[in-house]
Amino acid sequence: MFHLSPWIFLVFIGSTLAATADQWRGRAIYQLITDRYALPNGADANACNVTDQTWCGGTWLTIKDNLDYIQNAGFTAVWISPVSQNYEGPRTVYGDAYHGYWIADASQLNSHFGTSDDLKALSAELHRRGMYLMVDIVANNVMATSTTPDFSNYMFKEPTQYHPYCPIDWGNVTSVQDCWLGDTKVTLPDLNTEDPTVASTYGTWINNLVQEYGIDGLRIDAAKHVQAPFWASFCASAGVFCLGEVFGDDIPTASSYQQVMDSVLNYPLYDAIVQAFSIPGPANVSGLAAVMGQIQNGFEDSTVLGNFLENQDVPRWHSLSVDPQSLYNAMVLTFMSDGIPIVYYGQEQSLDGTADPYNRGPLWTSGYQQTATYNLTTTLNKLRNYLVNNTNWAQSRTQVLQVTSDGLAIMKENIVTIMTNIGSPPQNTSVFAYTSWPNSFSSTDILSCKQYAVGSGGTVEVEYSKGVQPVILVPDDILEGSKLCRQVDNTSSTSD
Ligand SMILES: *[C@@H]1O[C@H](CO)[C@@H](O)[C@H](O)[C@H]1NC(C)=O
Ligand SMILES: *[C@@H]1O[C@H](CO)[C@@H](O)[C@H](O)[C@H]1NC(C)=O
Ligand SMILES: *[C@@H]1O[C@H](CO)[C@@H](O)[C@H](O)[C@H]1NC(C)=O
Ligand SMILES: *[C@@H]1O[C@H](CO)[C@@H](O)[C@H](O)[C@H]1NC(C)=O
Ligand SMILES: *[C@@H]1O[C@H](CO)[C@@H](O)[C@H](O)[C@H]1NC(C)=O
Ligand SMILES: *[C@@H]1O[C@H](CO)[C@@H](O)[C@H](O)[C@H]1NC(C)=O
Ligand SMILES: *[C@@H]1O[C@H](CO)[C@@H](O)[C@H](O)[C@H]1NC(C)=O
Repeated sequence: MFHLSPWIFLVFIGSTLAATADQWRGRAIYQLITDRYALPNGADANACNVTDQTWCGGTWLTIKDNLDYIQNAGFTAVWISPVSQNYEGPRTVYGDAYHGYWIADASQLNSHFGTSDDLKALSAELHRRGMYLMVDIVANNVMATSTTPDFSNYMFKEPTQYHPYCPIDWGNVTSVQDCWLGDTKVTLPDLNTEDPTVASTYGTWINNLVQEYGIDGLRIDAAKHVQAPFWASFCASAGVFCLGEVFGDDIPTASSYQQVMDSVLNYPLYDAIVQAFSIPGPANVSGLAAVMGQIQNGFEDSTVLGNFLENQDVPRWHSLSVDPQSLYNAMVLTFMSDGIPIVYYGQEQSLDGTADPYNRGPLWTSGYQQTATYNLTTTLNKLRNYLVNNTNWAQSRTQVLQVTSDGLAIMKENIVTIMTNIGSPPQNTSVFAYTSWPNSFSSTDILSCKQYAVGSGGTVEVEYSKGVQPVILVPDDILEGSKLCRQVDNTSSTSD
């Protein structure tokens, strides 16, 4: 027991309550599954079998004890999997509730991941480091193993507080909102959120949870499966940033949820990135550029959307594309265009895995190496954090400069980013970016630390005959402040 801890909680939890969309806009999020991020000292690092779908031993304290790995990569927020008590019955056909999404009594914490003090200690340690805590919240449904469950040990105990059982008819919006996700072996009973008692109980619960644990933001599971008005009151009760999961690439559907919560995960951009950058793939760069424009026009605020390449519900990028340049070019777009970049744990280690449960492997088997992808992530965060602090980066909007069959050039806040989908083998091909920079303007690619010349008409040419990698051109004045590519600075003896 640390005698100082109550004082620490007061200072650090109190001071960061109620982080808003504006405060989140410039953050970068590391998403993890609590059970799979880090083991306690002395545990057997080879014992986690993904196929078994059972607990592997990660806890809130093991996250707290391993935050350097996340913070050193430049992340300023951590999104953890759900914290509420889950189903504890016999093993199901889909294994055990190691992922945390099988809610039973939401008013209790999940004892597999630690105690109330442990979760408070994680929150306090994140705040001590100037980082935010985002918690994954499941309110659409609970979990059971029949279509007529006994709810007596759940937070909502009355069958009338749930919609009656029906399987989802995916073409019918009412059915998507009111019927039950899951199947008949593992059912996900759907809360009747139109019931005023259910709504007010949820409102009180989330307000208490956020306050007690100093939570800075919520990721809202299955947002699309609840009638939208519920979220407006739920998020108002929470009083913090809400980031909803609206699965699917339909922009009108996804953007409608920004009327009732701050932001949603950018599934439309994700799908377009896969279509543009995965190898092999349709290489649909013009489609990606079009979708980027539709996102800017279709959402009330596209600069606060959550950009990602991986999560617990989609294939690891490495399982779509083994070519590392495919990952690097796609990843650069999630950091250098509008929105909040999100990296799913293990993306930086090129973990593979096609679908649940294989995209939820343990991180510790990677040895937390400083891989090339980890280092790229660090560089991207370092630049973006600097831009957020010193320019209008977070609010400014991406402009597409050039679209070709194999390349995309964009500009945001005087940074030009050039990406390609040709993969690692060198090719005699170029992408030109037509910038507004004057002739002989000096900029440096922060990934190679090479200077690039601007030709007539503001043209920058990136050619791939000697190799392929994304290029991020940073003007000299910004480069100097960012402290990236120090080796090109030969006058640094008198600076800091
Ligand atoms: C992992 O678990 C699966 C199913 O439970 C089993 O078939 C497999 O042999 C296990 N793998 C190892 C390496 O133990
Ligand atoms: C849509 O689903 C709801 C809920 O199951 C059902 O009551 C309604 O009849 C369905 N509508 C159509 C047109 O099938
Ligand atoms: C490219 O993407 C756009 C936008 O999603 C789509 O309309 C178009 O059909 C796609 N083209 C190909 C060849 O896949
Ligand atoms: C990543 O960066 C670290 C620290 O600069 C360095 O030691 C390591 O070799 C780099 N990893 C790769 C794969 O380049
Ligand atoms: C950005 O500003 C915050 C708050 O002042 C500071 O903690 C952080 O170190 C800064 N980051 C960079 C990269 O300048
Ligand atoms: C590119 O073109 C040059 C000149 O035609 C040729 O020598 C070189 O081998 C080509 N490189 C590639 C990667 O195709
Ligand atoms: C330092 O940079 C200046 C300007 O680019 C160049 O003229 C000079 O030769 C460089 N000095 C060294 C030691 O590299």
